Amino acid sequence: TPADPSSGPVLAVDQGTSGTKALVVCPERGVIGTGAATVRPRFLPGGLVEVDPVALLTSVVDAGRQALSEAGEPVVAVGLANQGETVLAWDPATGTPLTDALVWQDRRAETVCADLAPHADTLRELTGLPLDPYFAAPKMAWIRRHLTREGVVTTSDVWLVHRLTGAFVTDTATAGRTQLLDLDRVEWSPRALDLFGLSAERLPRVVDADTAVGTTTAFGAEIPLTGLLVDQQAALLAQRVTRAGAAKCTYGTGAFLLAQTGPRPRRGTNGLVSCVAWRLRGRTSYCLDGQVYTAASAVRWLTDLKVIGGPEDLDPVGGSVPDTGGVTFVPALAGLAAPWWRGDARGSLTGLGLDTTAGHLVRALCEGIAAQVAEIATAASADLGAPLTSLRVDGGLTRSALLMQTQADLLQRPVEVSALPDVTALGVAAAARLGLDPGLDTERAVPAWEPSAVYEPRIGAAQAAERLARFRSAVAALPDPAP
Ligand code: G3P
Repeated sequence: TPADPSSGPVLAVDQGTSGTKALVVCPERGVIGTGAATVRPRFLPGGLVEVDPVALLTSVVDAGRQALSEAGEPVVAVGLANQGETVLAWDPATGTPLTDALVWQDRRAETVCADLAPHADTLRELTGLPLDPYFAAPKMAWIRRHLTREGVVTTSDVWLVHRLTGAFVTDTATAGRTQLLDLDRVEWSPRALDLFGLSAERLPRVVDADTAVGTTTAFGAEIPLTGLLVDQQAALLAQRVTRAGAAKCTYGTGAFLLAQTGPRPRRGTNGLVSCVAWRLRGRTSYCLDGQVYTAASAVRWLTDLKVIGGPEDLDPVGGSVPDTGGVTFVPALAGLAAPWWRGDARGSLTGLGLDTTAGHLVRALCEGIAAQVAEIATAASADLGAPLTSLRVDGGLTRSALLMQTQADLLQRPVEVSALPDVTALGVAAAARLGLDPGLDTERAVPAWEPSAVYEPRIGAAQAAERLARFRSAVAALPDPAP
């Protein structure tokens, strides 16, 4: 029997850097089915990070089908969250990719950014974004200069939605990650397009997060696709960070702190990104956003080097020693983002001795990730003119009590871990439900929030300041790039 459109379950798919997660979410019974599929980006010399677009699509379909089969009942809608700044060229007639997808971590578009450096201030004022290869437009321009002039060049969500439904759309928040969206008008900026040499491009229609964009049969029966949102903003929604001054941080492949700023953009002066949080029910919310490019990817790096067996070892190995033993790790393995914007930076490990153990390295890594998040939180407070009222956190690495305690210590504020895993999928499930049911109130679409753990600071302000100062000095000492 077809499910009731207002109360039936929805399929929420979170297409991330390292894999896709899917949930079947029911308003009354919560999550009734889950699915997951791994994606393996390729890490190549020169800071290149690529992924096969077909692997992204396959992971969406596989994870979605798994979740549906576990739920064992029909869904009324599907929502799709995406990784944001990952781009590819593709043929709009056939849907065939013309290039690999350049992942958001990929640094090759530094050359495009260098050429546009004289226009950095203009672009920042127009779009809220600093000039950095992280964003989509520099990578789109790089593809046009070096790979192909055929087809369309878009973020990965546009291609996935086209393959699923035939539509050619992107949501306002994903569009806001390109550096081509006018932040105030929430529409494509002719000036930004011109600066990037992308004026002749066919661009997707920018839609609200709660829009019925078409239907898909990719998961079996025909299902309407009614929710689209970039992943960090979806997590912001599901963490119920809807009031100005509150913030969330998601510890995924990277770590991303977003602070809500309300219905108007706030262009700060402390190195953060000012961007669209979402447009829902025709109303735009904005946020400040700071990024740590390598969080779980730095843990994976330590794992590949066999220092630890995996993320589950962070606490036992880190717990084998009382402190970092004087080791400082700046885990800038894919450059540094806000508030430094040193895309050229590479990681550094200092203070090593013959007595350094794997435990010290693990503690230094946790300290390096937490210190970056603390710096971003400080920048957000300065821009907002008040300390953050709370920090709600989610993502796989929140399972590490060592990392979370270190975070609370360096932040000098409580860190509240969401009791619900997979909040990104829950955020896009809310968008899909709103897209399906025009009468539904946003408050009711988002699941209730409660913490599974709250970490209180265990050190004093002076000690936190001293540890942050040590990290800052290590960042300042990073060498300039080779000429
Ligand atoms: O900006 C990139 C970010 O949104 C990717 O998220 O979860 O794949 O680390 P994740």
